[in-house]
Amino acid sequence: MQIITLFQLVSASILALAANAEVYFKEQFLDGDAWKSRWVNSEHKSDYGQFKLTAGNFYGDAEKDKGLQSSQDARFYATSGRFEPFSNEGKPLVIQFTVKHEQKIDCGGGYVKVFPADLNQADMHGDSQYYVMFGPDICGYSTKKVHVIFNYKGKNHLIKKEIKCKDDELTHLYTLILNPDQTYEVKIDNEKVESGSLEEDWDFLPPKKIKDPEAKKPEDWDDRAKIDDETDTKPEDWDKPENIPDPDAKKPDDWDEDMDGEWEPAMIPNPEYKCLHIKPLRGAFLPLSNSVHCEKHSRHQHVSVSVLSLQVKSGTIFDNFLITDDVKEAEDFGNETWGATKGPEKKMKEEQDEKKRKEEEEKNKEQSTEAGDEEEEEEDEGEEEETEEPPEEGDDDALPKDEL
Ligand SMILES: *[C@@H]1O[C@H](CO)[C@@H](O)[C@H](O)[C@H]1NC(C)=O
Repeated sequence: MQIITLFQLVSASILALAANAEVYFKEQFLDGDAWKSRWVNSEHKSDYGQFKLTAGNFYGDAEKDKGLQSSQDARFYATSGRFEPFSNEGKPLVIQFTVKHEQKIDCGGGYVKVFPADLNQADMHGDSQYYVMFGPDICGYSTKKVHVIFNYKGKNHLIKKEIKCKDDELTHLYTLILNPDQTYEVKIDNEKVESGSLEEDWDFLPPKKIKDPEAKKPEDWDDRAKIDDETDTKPEDWDKPENIPDPDAKKPDDWDEDMDGEWEPAMIPNPEYKCLHIKPLRGAFLPLSNSVHCEKHSRHQHVSVSVLSLQVKSGTIFDNFLITDDVKEAEDFGNETWGATKGPEKKMKEEQDEKKRKEEEEKNKEQSTEAGDEEEEEEDEGEEEETEEPPEEGDDDALPKDEL
């Protein structure tokens, strides 16, 4: 199976900004190779793929748009960084980053994970327990969504709403805001795409009613919901048909038996038709306990976050990580980074696409002017190109699930 998984942790010290914003973590990869000293590759597997620092094939700014790109196909990636543990008690928590699938991703995740502080970075892997997983996940045409998963009491809980993610090749900004009043907001490209309450949009709590484990099915219980009423007898006039010919129907004057076939009146429901009587029995056996499981829970308090991780297929670039307690600061940062380069990036991409299109056109023109035996060659070329494409979507079905 050709799967790429990448776990990336981010390292930083707490940078106190102006105002009251606290930035727990910020990584823009603006200092050359220095990121290598801030990131720890996991050795959980011996064949994890390598990350490289690059702005990719097209970008808005050759330096500022440099980020971590997964560089080898069909590999898992596992690297991480660390930042000081913090608590988000009584404050918002904002997790934000940019992701660009410039390889036309057909299956793979572009999400980050925030881990507890005691994570062993050198041994990080897909099953390492995390607090929050957030980001886009694409697989084929059916899966194009933003994951928001919380680990609560050892279990991972997925958001119940479907949030559509971006699936083009450009850079996009993903933001998750968790508020102290237990509400949340998800933004893409600095625009709200979903919001609500944690209580309603995740199944953190056990259901209010559960099956009573003590309940036993009575021995004389009959599973049939309905039975024939034995006391019911067939009425004398039972054999009336359900439908009868409409007594009011008349053969139209212009009816032509040769052309239209034999005329028959339309059928109508028979007023004398009788239904079989069915006597209802008691309902199916469904043991319900009355004990209400209601539990007070406090999430996202004293969360010491230390690590981010992501999962990608080769070619995805991650950049502009920010973890802060300030929603406005995150929006500003998004505007300054993604907001400033998205325009020029799109322009460069469009120019490249246009150039490619023209070259294709030239090539096709040349080929069509040459002899007919060239056609075969053309086909071969097509096949070659296909093998360079990312693997078929079916192969990668397990990728996101594997991560969950
Ligand atoms: C970010 O940019 C958007 C669009 O230009 C603007 O509406 C918004 O006010 C900006 N946010 C901040 C915090 O400056």
